[in-house]
Amino acid sequence: GAPIEVDLAPIVQGQSIKVFWRGAPIFINHRSPEEIASARSVDWRTLADPQSDEDRTKAGHEQWLVVNGICTHLGCIPNYHEGQYDGWLCHCHGSQYDSSGRVRKGPAPANLALVPYEFLSDTQLRIG
Ligand code: FES
Repeated sequence: GAPIEVDLAPIVQGQSIKVFWRGAPIFINHRSPEEIASARSVDWRTLADPQSDEDRTKAGHEQWLVVNGICTHLGCIPNYHEGQYDGWLCHCHGSQYDSSGRVRKGPAPANLALVPYEFLSDTQLRIG
């Protein structure tokens, strides 16, 4: 699929939107300072799929999380702002993801997948 461009200006802090790229839902999450701090305060080496928040976001744009919105267990779409980790809860079998999209609970074997993206400006994102 071709790359898509997304205008980030209307996405307020604390909001998560869903766009489609290559037929997959992509979550774009405008994280609050508290959500970033929460994602960075955990010892990521102890997580089921160990990845630092720094490695899952881009320096200078760490308020933006851009991930594939398909639960890595069996493919349901998790709900944002549910669960215990400032992130997502998947109602199919109870997997929970944190504000970095990392799996923290439940049967999902992996973090919400990263997708290729770059910032064309502070408010213009290209996915793909
Ligand atoms: Fe999400 Fe099973 S599909 S927990």
